[in-house]
Amino acid sequence: MKAPRGTQDLLPGVTEKWQYVEEKLKELSGRFHYQEIRTPIFEHTELFQRGVGDTTDIVQKEMYTFLDKGERSITLRPEGTASVVRSFVQHKLFGSPNQPTKLFYIGPMFRYERPQQGRMRQFVQYGVEALGSADPAIDAEVISLAMNAYQTLGLKSLKLAINSLGDQESRENHRQALVDHFTPVKEELCGDCQNRLEQNPLRVLDCKKDRDHPKMQDAPSILSYLNTNSNVYFEKVKAYLDVMGIEYQVDPNLVRGLDYYNHTAFEIMSDAEGFGAITTLSGGGRYNGLVQDLGGPETPGIGFALSIERLLMALEAEGVVLPIDEQLDCYVVALGEDANLKAAAIVNDLRQAGIQVDKDYQDKKFKGQFKAADRLKTKFVLVLGDDELSKNQIAVKNMETGEQETVAIDQLIRHMQGIL
Ligand code: HAM
Repeated sequence: MKAPRGTQDLLPGVTEKWQYVEEKLKELSGRFHYQEIRTPIFEHTELFQRGVGDTTDIVQKEMYTFLDKGERSITLRPEGTASVVRSFVQHKLFGSPNQPTKLFYIGPMFRYERPQQGRMRQFVQYGVEALGSADPAIDAEVISLAMNAYQTLGLKSLKLAINSLGDQESRENHRQALVDHFTPVKEELCGDCQNRLEQNPLRVLDCKKDRDHPKMQDAPSILSYLNTNSNVYFEKVKAYLDVMGIEYQVDPNLVRGLDYYNHTAFEIMSDAEGFGAITTLSGGGRYNGLVQDLGGPETPGIGFALSIERLLMALEAEGVVLPIDEQLDCYVVALGEDANLKAAAIVNDLRQAGIQVDKDYQDKKFKGQFKAADRLKTKFVLVLGDDELSKNQIAVKNMETGEQETVAIDQLIRHMQGIL
């Protein structure tokens, strides 16, 4: 049996990298003062229909939706924002005096997409959401955090693209302009886009099939339709990015694949050579109407998410080696029945004292045990033979230098704590 298409097993050797990256992201969240939230992996389907949007590819094509035994329509979460906002509303976090509410999450998301390198059906997102502030400075904070997520891990070939999708009024005007622009060539567009033109014309700009249609080149840009409020807001976000020394390119075609966005939208791309066809590492933006759409009080919000899969691909493409300690601190080599009995006690005592240690469980000979210790990149091998046992001693061999010393067993913990 094999794991389902688009999923993967993470085995020892790889899980250490994930742990390292996840730790760094948690530490980063703490530095920016975002606190962890954990929401369910499945939700009522309606949450994503209302939250992510009925016209998006995610909702129309990519959700893992099923009826549970109680005949409720359930969906494996395709993203984190809708769930976080649902939880924010359900638990009335808006009532807390500490606003904005700044949250982060790490966990698996599910999308029925065509799997390829960097596109999985189960993938892990790290994301943040800041709810309760309409200050453009927090847009810059979220973008800075997103950039830092890569930079703290040593990535350099990054590109930040930003855009403004404007407020409701700007979007309405842009929407009409798009309809006017594309309607004369409607028949030439793909079936999806013909529907999009009616339901959500902005989505047409994001179409992969019609990307090269001549009408795409001179499609009306949202930036030409921003009203004064939206323009001022966007200028402020850029000013904050400038003072923070964050470089960006304004990309008027950046529309994002989810419906809840307005004002700021951004994506971070890798331009590392050999990164592959998919270059987007993460994306996010502002979603000022979402809390209300999901039944809460009018509350602005902004956030972003990245996937660890693509982050690890970028690290590989840039040749960044994570400083993961693959060594084992101690390995006890014991020979004979009495020594093995004593070894079990020593191993147990060392572990209780917080020292990492392993031993043989395969009845290996002396040489085999040493070989095993070598393969495990052990720093210190502790040898317990008849001779040592009779004197209540143990030999401690430094595997790097080859030096060996004899230590009284009752001094071993202190000794090892000293040299480790
Ligand atoms: P998204 O652009 O759909 O946004 O996904 C964010 C990131 O998740 C992508 O840039 C990509 O790195 C990763 N990703 C998406 N699909 C896959 C996949 N099939 N395999 C591997 N990685 C994938 C959102 O999900 C929004 N909730 C982000 C957000 C948070 N906006 C505001 N707050």
